[in-house]
Amino acid sequence: MSDLKTTYMGLELKNPIMAGSSGFTSTVDKVKELEDNGIGGVVLKSIFEEQIMLEADSIIKSGDSVNADIAADDYIKYYIQQNNLNNYLKLIEDLKKQVSIPVIASVACVSDKGWTDFTESIENAGADALELNTYILPFESKIKSKEIEKKYFDIVYSAKKHISIPLAVKLPYYFTNLSRMIIELSKTGIDGLVLFNRFLKFDIDIESIKIQPGGIFSAPEEISVPLRWISLLSDDVKCDLAASIGIHDGYDAIKTILTGATCVEIASTIYKNGPSYIGKMIDQMEDWMKRHSFKSINNFKGKMNQANVKDPQQLERAQFMKYFSGHDELV
Ligand SMILES: Cc1cc2nc3c(=O)[nH]c(=O)nc-3n(C[C@H](O)[C@H](O)[C@H](O)COP(=O)(O)O)c2cc1C
Repeated sequence: MSDLKTTYMGLELKNPIMAGSSGFTSTVDKVKELEDNGIGGVVLKSIFEEQIMLEADSIIKSGDSVNADIAADDYIKYYIQQNNLNNYLKLIEDLKKQVSIPVIASVACVSDKGWTDFTESIENAGADALELNTYILPFESKIKSKEIEKKYFDIVYSAKKHISIPLAVKLPYYFTNLSRMIIELSKTGIDGLVLFNRFLKFDIDIESIKIQPGGIFSAPEEISVPLRWISLLSDDVKCDLAASIGIHDGYDAIKTILTGATCVEIASTIYKNGPSYIGKMIDQMEDWMKRHSFKSINNFKGKMNQANVKDPQQLERAQFMKYFSGHDELV
């Protein structure tokens, strides 16, 4: 009998498949449906720093966190009306009464300005942990890399002052030195890193000749991003790692655990296959564990991290050469 239990940031998960923040984690009924289908835990739909910090009008006057584009201003007003902070706290309170899986709150943030006080209310409402979705796209070529990196540390230290529940940071992968950023952030006392945050894709509609968002859902091959970095760094990070992006079935979840992740946070596959697919993912994990005689997650967690590879850069270079010269016959 395979045992899928694991512990993420001190929270007991009955299995490592967590629902990442998305529309599927925005109401009590939807979370209950995920729980009924076997999910190990949930990260709630994010509230935005802008919602917490200011009334819509004052955001617009200050022009601080959003650009002064009128359509964007109108959208923020609309969003704030629809998504009252008290509703968010009530969602946490209600969920803690009605589900038994861990409930992680989520704030999407770009700065450490003011909003972090609100994390106390999130803790008081009963959230088991908090995940910060740091969504900072480095648009400004004049800003130095180290100034952008500092923002992440400021956000972490500011949030940590207000809460004692576990704190996770969901990171993008656009950094000058991603390895260093991950290792250094893991030393700040945070409990988890979610690798990675998937930024909205950029695309162009060539008929209207306008910018349009690219695919909202990930493709299965995008899993190579978390796999590579978790495999490279899992032995050196000082906190738990959750894998996100491109995990579309139970076998994908197995791959991330082999690299050293503690659990996965999924969204696209739930949108594509529905909540009932979670049961199938669990079956796939159990099937693989049985076939390979692994009785528990810890029996194979981190087996494929690269701590024992002497020179990963050299290995990568060798694979690159082999792969590209190996395809000459296709020309
Ligand atoms: C429709 C949709 C809404 C999402 N909303 C949020 C959100 O509010 N906060 C957040 O941190 N991530 C959000 N995400 C990102 C997911 O939590 C996840 O990190 C990302 O989609 C990569 O995982 P996947 O490949 O399984 O989709 C959203 C994803 C989707 C598809």
